[in-house]
Parts: sequence; C-alpha cells; structure tokens
Amino acid sequence: MLNYAKILVTGAEGQLGKCLKILVGKSANIIFAGKKELDITDANAVYSFFNNHLPQIVINTAAYTQVDGAESNRELAFLVNAEAVKNLAETCKIFGSKLIHISTDYVFDGKAKLPYKETDIPNPITQYGKSKLAGEKQIIQSSLKEYAIVRTSWLYSNFGHNFYKTMLQLAKIKKEISVVDDQQGCPTYAVDLANALLDIATKLTKENSGIYHFCNTGATTWYGFAIAIFEKKQIAIGVHPIATASFPTAAKRPAYSVLDSQKLQEVFHLNIPSWEEGLSECISEG
Ligand SMILES: NC(=O)c1ccc[n+]([C@@H]2O[C@H](COP(=O)([O-])OP(=O)(O)OC[C@H]3O[C@@H](n4cnc5c(N)ncnc54)[C@H](OP(=O)(O)O)[C@@H]3O)[C@@H](O)[C@H]2O)c1
Repeated sequence: MLNYAKILVTGAEGQLGKCLKILVGKSANIIFAGKKELDITDANAVYSFFNNHLPQIVINTAAYTQVDGAESNRELAFLVNAEAVKNLAETCKIFGSKLIHISTDYVFDGKAKLPYKETDIPNPITQYGKSKLAGEKQIIQSSLKEYAIVRTSWLYSNFGHNFYKTMLQLAKIKKEISVVDDQQGCPTYAVDLANALLDIATKLTKENSGIYHFCNTGATTWYGFAIAIFEKKQIAIGVHPIATASFPTAAKRPAYSVLDSQKLQEVFHLNIPSWEEGLSECISEG
C-alpha cells in the first residue's frame, strides 16, 4: 500500500468514487465524502469540511453527469460542474491543497480525425460539455498552483450507471439489440482511471500541473464495445449496428472523441492498459 498524503474524494458515492474506494480500502489516509457528507455547491460547507479535515489533495469526482438531462437542466449542470468547482479551487488555494479534477472528452466537438491532445481547442456541443469546460476554466482562472484536470471518456465499471452495465441488463431481456456504430471513442475502465489518479496524487507538483487526457488505449464504437462485451462474457445476442441518426437523444454526441493520453503517460510514467484489457479486468472483477 502506498503511503498517501491526506486525500479527500468528493462525489464518493458515484462510479469513480466507488472505484477509488475499492482500490484503497479502509486503511489509507483517504476521506470519502458523498453528496450527503459534502455538497460541493455549498461554499460554506466546503470551507468547513476542509477546516475540519485539512486534506492535502482533493480528487473531485463529484459532477452532474446526465448528458441528456443537462440540456434541460442547464443551471444545475453549471452549478455542480462549474460554480462548485470554483468553490473547490478557491478553498484548495486557502488551505494549500492540491486539486485533481475529472473532466470529459465532451469538451470537444468531435470533428477531429486524430486523437485529441491537451493542446487542441475545446468546442463543446452539449450543455454538459459546456458546463465541464466552464469548470476547467474555473480552476485555471483561480490560479491554484498545483492541480491536474484529467479528461476521460466513456467510463464504465461494475458500479453505477454505465454502458457496460446497460448492455448486460439488456441481454437479460432481449434477444436482439441495435447499437450506434458511428461514434468513435475510448471505453475507459473506471478502476484503471482510479489507479492513475492515485498515482498522479503522489506525483503532482507545481511544475507538472495542467490538463491531461486519460483513457484506455485504442478506440472503438459503441457497437464495437457492445460486441466485445458480449463476446468476452460469452452471451449470445443479436447486435445490429445503427447510425446515430436512428437513435435520437436530447444532447448531440460528438462523432469522434478519442483522447490521446501520451502526455499523461510520459509525465507520470504510467502504462495504460488497452480498452480490451480494461474490459477483461472489469469482467474478471465483476
Ligand atoms: N461516466 C462517464 O462516461 C464519464 C465520461 C467522461 C468524464 N466523466 C467524468 O468523470 C467524473 C466521474 O464520473 P462518474 O461516472 O463517477 O459519475 P457519477 O457516477 O454520476 O458520480 C458523480 C457523483 O457526484 C455526485 N454529485 C452530484 N452533485 C453533487 C454535489 N453537489 N456535491 C457532491 N456530490 C455531487 C453524484 O451524486 P447523485 O448521483 O446523488 O447526484 C454522484 O454520486 C465526472 O467528473 C464526470 O464528468 C464521466
């Protein structure tokens, strides 16, 4: 077990928060705070929580993550994903804490043909993506010295709501399903991300602060991901590729949201598993 500095994980009842929890167990010097323990939109509560616990590092997994819901709940999305991130960044500054904040591939418009690098210009096409980009800006504008904004994509695990679990649920009740085959991205096993975040927490300095991309390596479509899930789980089900246009959603999804994680691998000396390896690991741990 690594000897961590005192870490606060916000949004601890979410998918990523739970993955962090199973990795570190109870023994480590880590405080897990769900929304009930710490509502990050409440600036006074955030200050008091820091004052009581004095975290040296904050891993902010708390977010409004309903991509379609954000189209009609714009205010709430911006409150949690931007204003509350400002609260955290300002409070980290006061208490000298480092901030590791999770952001998303949906800050990009999906028009690229090559994996997005940290230097590419964001241009979100959804309210969710806009609110997450606004959160990133709050951290940068706060002039907090030690921070990492880690953009990730297509998170899944055995916890919470995600595509992997949805496919397994559908397989219980359907013999045939249709899955979108014209959106490209990187399915990312949330435990692999959690491992990377804990590693970053031990190595984050003023010098390496900035924006990073983290996803499992390689790329596929939702259809390709579904096929891999059913093959690896040996589930017999008919899977048909469809176009995004046949599956209308409130929020338009980027057609291409593959992230390039090379910078993170080089700066923090991390080896990132492929998305197929991540999936096998998820299945074996499920
Ligand atoms: N899931 C993905 O595919 C994906 C892709 C790219 C990036 N990300 C980013 O990765 C991070 C983790 O995502 P996830 O999949 O773990 O999301 P999640 O399962 O939805 O977890 C987010 C958690 O934050 C909590 N929360 C919401 N408002 C809060 C508040 N005001 N104060 C404290 N906690 C609050 C939620 O509680 P309630 O559920 O009770 O509201 C939930 O437990 C997020 O920053 C997300 O934007 C996710």
